[in-house]
Amino acid sequence: MPALSPFARLRRLRSSAPLREALAETRLHAAQLIQPHFVVESRDARTPIGALPGIDRVGLDALLRDVERDLALGIASVLLFGVIDDPALKDPHGRRAADPDGLVPRAVRELRRRFGAALVIHTDVCLCAYTSHGHCGFVEEGRVLNDASLAALAAMALAHARAGADFVAPSDMLDGRIAALRAALDEAGCTTTGILSYAAKFASGYYGPFREAASSAPQFGDRRTYQMDLRNGREALRELAADEAEGADLLMVKPALAYLDVLARARAATRLPLVAYNVSGEYAQVKAAAERGWIDEGAVVRENLLAFARAGADLVITYHAREALQKGWLR
Ligand code: PBG
Ligand code: ZN
Repeated sequence: MPALSPFARLRRLRSSAPLREALAETRLHAAQLIQPHFVVESRDARTPIGALPGIDRVGLDALLRDVERDLALGIASVLLFGVIDDPALKDPHGRRAADPDGLVPRAVRELRRRFGAALVIHTDVCLCAYTSHGHCGFVEEGRVLNDASLAALAAMALAHARAGADFVAPSDMLDGRIAALRAALDEAGCTTTGILSYAAKFASGYYGPFREAASSAPQFGDRRTYQMDLRNGREALRELAADEAEGADLLMVKPALAYLDVLARARAATRLPLVAYNVSGEYAQVKAAAERGWIDEGAVVRENLLAFARAGADLVITYHAREALQKGWLR
């Protein structure tokens, strides 16, 4: 780097709003945002989620309305989560997850019929919302099995792909799932369906509100034998490399705010597009402080979302997406 002059006038480049706008190194466009949706069975449902103010569990009718409104704002991507409220409909193997006429496949088909190619549909692929024990794979003697769970994840992905999902997004963190999904999709002729891998997903306290929203909390133990130890940055690069080698199209780092270093290192390590997941607990913190009048919500949301882009994210999954655009927070 050239040496700075003894008295560099760095403020010269910040002296007016249009100049700052012209020189901004980072921008975030609506097209880069992915809005998550929690889909429930009853068609006309719309129920608020306590720890995610502004986000509802929605039935298909409300989902179609929300997506239509988001498209008008420029948000063209969704991430769908199926939510099963009735514990009686869950079982140890999460069999409903792979039902071709299940909640998520039906939602995908309706969204596709209504919006065609104008909408990019990502679907979360994981067993935890469908298993009675709430873990992301099969369980034997208190342990989460790896290879024995892969076929069930692949079957779930296939049901979503056949319904018309653009990308299936495995969030389980079991080893070898990307290769298993890719093989199953290709064998079934779903060669155009992409895989958005939750590649570097850490065992985090920030998923609390989501587990309430999705009724997916583990009923015993925790997820630390499959999700990553939060102290490990180098290992995150191994996870990303493994998923890239197995055929992932998009790589995610999750959570986002406490892991910006991982995102920046990932940016240097791969040529694949990177996705930051601004998770439920991160959203809930901002909402709680804003409700109390302790922070300026628009300023903080803008700062957080732009930080993901500056660190290297191409796409951002965020519960703030709709409100940030409605209120012009990204400008
Ligand atoms: C399910 C899944 C989780 C999230 C996305 N998919 C929770 C978990 O792993 O326990 C978290 C998303 C959020 O907190 O917003 N595997
Ligand atoms: Zn899971």
